[in-house]
Amino acid sequence: MPSDHLAFGWGEHVCVGMHLARLEMGALLERLADRVARFEILGQQPMINNGLRGFDRLDVAIEPVA
Ligand code: HEM
Repeated sequence: MPSDHLAFGWGEHVCVGMHLARLEMGALLERLADRVARFEILGQQPMINNGLRGFDRLDVAIEPVA
């Protein structure tokens, strides 16, 4: 099942915190939606890990709402 997306796993070891994580991310994005016109990903450095996908570093530029 090849995939590049960042997710919460599946099956018996699915992330037990995924509902909390989704709530937190939803709240954050709702607040930012009024203030940010655009996000731009400038660069990324993948995390080196055999079991998890993620970034050690993700540089993002934020264009505020005028
Ligand atoms: C964006 C935030 C999060 C991401 C992307 C994430 C991702 C993941 C993934 C991919 C796994 C499965 C790992 C595997 O298959 O071995 C996992 C497991 C787990 N996560 Fe999360 N997680 C997040 C937030 C949280 C939070 C907020 C909590 C706790 C409050 C949490 C608690 C756990 C626990 C305890 C497991 C182990 C479940 C098990 O092995 O039965 N996670 N998470």
